[in-house]
Amino acid sequence: MTRPAEVSAVGRVVLKDGTIVDSRGEQRLDVAMENGVVTEVGIELRGDRLVDARGCVVAPGFVDLHAHLREPGKEEAETIETGSRAGAKGGYTALVAMPNTDPPQDSVAVIDFVREQGKRAGLLEVVPSGCITLGRQGEALAPLAELAAAGVRLFTDDGSGVQNELLMRRAMEYARGLGVTLAQHCEVTSLTKGAVMNECQCCTSLGLPGWPSIAEELMVFRDIELARLTGARVHFLHLSTARSVELVRAAKRDGLPITAEVTPHHLSLDDTRLTSFDTVFKVNPPLRSLGDIAALRAGVRDGTIDALATDHAPHPRRDKELSLDQAPPGMLGLETALGVALGVLDVDLVHLVRIMSTQPAAIAGISDRHGRDIEVGAPANVVVFDPDLSWTVSPDSLSSKSRNTPYVGMTLRGKVRHTFFNGVATVLDGDAQR
Ligand code: DOR
Repeated sequence: MTRPAEVSAVGRVVLKDGTIVDSRGEQRLDVAMENGVVTEVGIELRGDRLVDARGCVVAPGFVDLHAHLREPGKEEAETIETGSRAGAKGGYTALVAMPNTDPPQDSVAVIDFVREQGKRAGLLEVVPSGCITLGRQGEALAPLAELAAAGVRLFTDDGSGVQNELLMRRAMEYARGLGVTLAQHCEVTSLTKGAVMNECQCCTSLGLPGWPSIAEELMVFRDIELARLTGARVHFLHLSTARSVELVRAAKRDGLPITAEVTPHHLSLDDTRLTSFDTVFKVNPPLRSLGDIAALRAGVRDGTIDALATDHAPHPRRDKELSLDQAPPGMLGLETALGVALGVLDVDLVHLVRIMSTQPAAIAGISDRHGRDIEVGAPANVVVFDPDLSWTVSPDSLSSKSRNTPYVGMTLRGKVRHTFFNGVATVLDGDAQR
């Protein structure tokens, strides 16, 4: 078998002895890739370079709908290059870059910059989202048509939700006409002022201001009704409560064009973690109750939740060392998503690939090149992962520039072995190639 360093972009690369998992099910076949595309699928294929996939799943590369890459403006926390490397290590071939940069992604110039920096890093496709409102200020619409003409397919003010109903209605009317999707961060801020953790019994006894579930659910409800009125496609970011899942389930039953995501941390960690006062557990929306976690997992299982999205939110140590009320919310996600998901979700591998690749690619509007079945002619955006390999997360192993993850020291089951972006290995045997 070829050593990692010997696998190059040229020639025919064959993934040997793995199991293809995609929308068609599972097949034990080799996969040949050349010049950026899948060129053959079959048994006992030969090639210039052979890459071991024994015991592994070979699937379309993962697509993250929710990554904070922090460039431009907060390069101390992450750059598009370091975030891309973290993504490749996590098996991703595309990341939707969130717009809360400085300056924010509300102009074609910033969108072009983000996309170009992604190309320069060359480790995966960076897909910039655009702001819904100018400067994410919630006061006037961003130039949606201009941004859509520049290729933006997903619009969001993430980090904040659009509070004003009229503005959101107008945004949906434009979005409908432009054929783009609005992704909402659901938080009614009049209900969350000063809040740091889920409103629950322990927050009261700790004397910490509570963040009620209703702050999320009111906006989920409002936007479902606005989507019903306008016909716009709406995607709900990082849902965290049982009632939100129920609202989305009912909206889908009504045939509305609604999609939703959950994060690995909301599926795996409950609100009692914050009793440690450790800011690594501070996220927006906050970690919720065990009942909410069970409902989120059930929502994934029955298809109410379309996508697993990381909300990868790097922050410098200095910021996370502030007191609980001052520290920014967010934790890393890209390098641990697969292991966390496999550990907590009771779904088969076909379903896992659906929520980590196929469906997020469709929501991001990039299904022509990501999330595609592994078949001849498909772009060679491929992840190879061992679903049974246990590994312990160590700070030294992380490619992100930041270290704010609660999973350090934890043992996860399921690890990415190789990632190929347009046929080029970005990760081999777990190591980033550039
Ligand atoms: O925890 C979070 N961190 N949630 C968000 O919505 C924003 C993000 C960030 O930008 O740090």
